[in-house]
Amino acid sequence: MRLLFLGDLVGRSGRTAVIERLPGLIADHRIDFVAVNGENAAGGFGITEEILGRVLGAGADAVTGGNHTFDQRDALVFAERQERFLRPANFPAGTPGRGAGLYMARNGASVLVINAMGRVFMDALDDPFAAIDKELAACPLGEQADAVVVDFHAEATSEKQALAHHLDGRVSLVVGTHTHVPTSDYRVMAGGTACQTDVGMCGDYNSVIGMNHREPLRRFLEKVPGERFSPASGPATISGLAVEVDDGSGLATAVAPLRLGGVLSETIPSFWR
Ligand SMILES: [Fe+2]
Ligand SMILES: [Fe+2]
Repeated sequence: MRLLFLGDLVGRSGRTAVIERLPGLIADHRIDFVAVNGENAAGGFGITEEILGRVLGAGADAVTGGNHTFDQRDALVFAERQERFLRPANFPAGTPGRGAGLYMARNGASVLVINAMGRVFMDALDDPFAAIDKELAACPLGEQADAVVVDFHAEATSEKQALAHHLDGRVSLVVGTHTHVPTSDYRVMAGGTACQTDVGMCGDYNSVIGMNHREPLRRFLEKVPGERFSPASGPATISGLAVEVDDGSGLATAVAPLRLGGVLSETIPSFWR
């Protein structure tokens, strides 16, 4: 089974690249399941239901979030009715929407997707390790789920790597999002879980983590906020992680980055050729 996870879509540049190229990628490489982090898809802040529909229409099977999930206020409403839209599972009780969902892949397999948010250098939230364990207990790999994808939206590399060890052998993939720059530590761990500390973003890398560099730079130089951040509008690099999952065990057998377009060098997983 072929899984693809795409990092945070940032603004028009990132979402347009993904909406235009994802259908061809799925068809050309026979990808069974696609999860996408969409927390920055609308002007860099949150996602609207219309954009969500276009990302799902391009072939995404689940759209995850993070600290920006509810920046567009209508997400508080559509989070309830859009079953393929996930927000972090460790948000407080009573938060609209869901933190995990079980979806059917194109090959007929059941894929559990869990979204959680870290706590180091981020908002005070419930324990993400316990929240993920609870979702896994309700839908274990090899029983109700044929594959499990965890999007851990976190700042600290230490917290993300600790979670990968915590989940090794119990999920197909644990992938970091939020920092918007891809790390080169992607691998299959000893227990069979694929991991990467951060998958990177789908956006214009000629920027400061997807935003036009001028205002972030100005704030470092002067420490006085001026304009709002706005997404950089140059050509986007699609940045993701491809995972081969064993149909029997649901564990990973191979993992490789995908990078297409923009200013980063292109990489297509060799096992897709
Ligand atoms: Fe993000
Ligand atoms: Fe984030």
